[in-house]
Amino acid sequence: MQSTFNFQGAKKIVFGQGALRKLADEVRGLAGKKVLLVLDQGLERAGVAQQVVDSLEGGRISYFRYDKITPEPEPVLADEAAELGRQQGCDLVIGVGGGSSLDVAKAAAMLAKNVGKAEDYIGLETVPQPGLPTIMIPTTAGTGSEVTFTAVFTMRDRKKKGGINSHFMYPDLALLDPELTVTLPPHPTATTGTDALTHAIEAFTSLQSNPMSDMVAREAIGLIGANLRQAVESGDDLKARNDMLLGSLLGGLALASAGVGGCHALAYPLGAFFDIPHGLANAVLLPYIMGYNLESTEAKYAQVASLMEAGETGQSQRSYAEQSIAVVRRLTLAIGIPQKLKDLDIPESAIEDMAEMAMTVARPIANNPREMTKEAAIGIYEEAY
Ligand SMILES: [Fe+2]
Repeated sequence: MQSTFNFQGAKKIVFGQGALRKLADEVRGLAGKKVLLVLDQGLERAGVAQQVVDSLEGGRISYFRYDKITPEPEPVLADEAAELGRQQGCDLVIGVGGGSSLDVAKAAAMLAKNVGKAEDYIGLETVPQPGLPTIMIPTTAGTGSEVTFTAVFTMRDRKKKGGINSHFMYPDLALLDPELTVTLPPHPTATTGTDALTHAIEAFTSLQSNPMSDMVAREAIGLIGANLRQAVESGDDLKARNDMLLGSLLGGLALASAGVGGCHALAYPLGAFFDIPHGLANAVLLPYIMGYNLESTEAKYAQVASLMEAGETGQSQRSYAEQSIAVVRRLTLAIGIPQKLKDLDIPESAIEDMAEMAMTVARPIANNPREMTKEAAIGIYEEAY
């Protein structure tokens, strides 16, 4: 636990059912005249894109659409979106969708005011100038990207993932409307929701955790623990969707301040090598990382067990901490998350290379509450296999 810390997120957060109806006013509030609208392809099917477009048109805001976002995006998508935004004279960027479109939107807004390509800026604080103003509208309860300063990209040709991390990329507005998440099918609800839980648990147990991040992480763990299964099983339960989106937002704020840990580091290679979606990779690995970390973060895992209502109290701290792993495992099993890496069609022979790459994900490795080595990563992957 750190006694000196930073706590920052989106400059403004608008949350609640019907929040989308405020979009045009919020664009005007940021002096936006023409919007670059960055959208997930899947949003067409769910009718969400139309709701966003209606909200802009109803408020007489002109916009230009960029909707070529794919899962685990390559940096060239941000280059393309930024170029289109420049050609069209856009002065504000709205990202709508899961983490992929939000990250592309953040990077495209940055590139609109900085020379070069997205890949040139991968790293920490490499961006010289602020970009265009941004509004982030998540349609999954999972990414947290609406309040972080990061945009993650996959370089498939080199089998690498990396993030642009700049204080200029904190969104100006995170607009969260739970009504936009009700059409998300059960499987992505489960994987993105478990990603949100991973953010909260990893931030809570990070070596960078602090009183502010702990406060929001605790709330996030409680909300997600109580609502994820219901959101998966009854997608139209607006109360469960509301509380999941709130939990995801708070998990995002926790990770924006305290970072994530070993689970995210070990999940990265699954995306870079095998195109396993980020949320699914984290969801499979989370209980195994918790098992590895247990001896270094017993007191906090005991709190996780309590927040997730793991069961009987009055046991030793150790056995209660162990309950946190059991409750996470029960939850992921109940919502249909595969329990083993081999269920993801990953060859066992890849473990060594995956461990090598995981160790390059420097900040999450450094934040992990128990020292993470390549040998330890191999051991975790083998156990998860
Ligand atoms: Fe994540």
